[in-house]
Parts: sequence; C-alpha cells; structure tokens
Amino acid sequence: GAPVTVNVSKLEPGQQITVEWRGKPVWVIRRDKAMLENIEKLNEAVKDPQSETPQQPPYIEGIYRALKPEIAVIVGLCTHLGCVPSYRPEVAPADLGENWLGGLFCPCHGSKYDLAGRVYDAQPAPLNLEVPPYRYDDDTTLTIG
Ligand code: FES
Repeated sequence: GAPVTVNVSKLEPGQQITVEWRGKPVWVIRRDKAMLENIEKLNEAVKDPQSETPQQPPYIEGIYRALKPEIAVIVGLCTHLGCVPSYRPEVAPADLGENWLGGLFCPCHGSKYDLAGRVYDAQPAPLNLEVPPYRYDDDTTLTIG
C-alpha cells in the first residue's frame, strides 16, 4: 500500500478524522491539554501504560504514543476481534460511567481504550491499539506508511 499524507493544520482540538491506509482505518485526533492530562491519570488503569508489548514503531515512545503529543495517530481496529471502536472523547457520559475520561469504546464486546489507544485492565482486548509507522514532513503534514 502507498503512504497516505494528511494535513493536520485544520484539525480542531478534540476533532477526529479517519484516513484509510492499507485497507485499515487510521484515526488522527487532535488532543487538547485536558485530554493529555486524562491520559496521564489513567497510567494505573491500563494494562500496558508504556506499550512494552510493541504495538507501534520503535521511535514512538511514552504514554502519549505519538511523535507530537497533541496529534494521535492510531489504527481504529480493536485488538480483540477487529471491530471498529467508537470515538468517545467526552468525560463521564451516562452510558460509560463517571470514571470514563474520554477514549475509544469498542461496541462489540465492550473493550475500553484511553485517548492514546491504551487498553484498560480487565478487557476482552489483549493489547493497545496499533500505531502505524508515520513521520512529519513539516510541522503540519504527516505521512502514514
Ligand atoms: Fe472489540 Fe471484541 S472486537 S471488544
């Protein structure tokens, strides 16, 4: 599959877009400061906070799982059986409970991921969501693949 180029300059804080790469949906999300703080708050609640089981290229490190913390690039396929999760950035919605700090929710069997694609403890999904290989060509242009 060919690389895919995305211009992130028009992405609003909290906005999520989907691009297709190698037949997979890749999500690009602009995370604001509150979202990044909520990721940090969930370090104890997720299975693999530092992604020690690699689901990402070696140059992607840390809890935000991104080259630039404010831009997430995540494959939108659940690591359980491959359903497409829902983007649920809101904090404490009625259906997900007051401990929900925003994240990705898989409707098939209920797996919960945070806004870095890190899977919560005790979910059907075994692994964090995949981060594809990508790079920045300039400040606002990223190429996936
Ligand atoms: Fe997502 Fe089963 S496919 S929880």
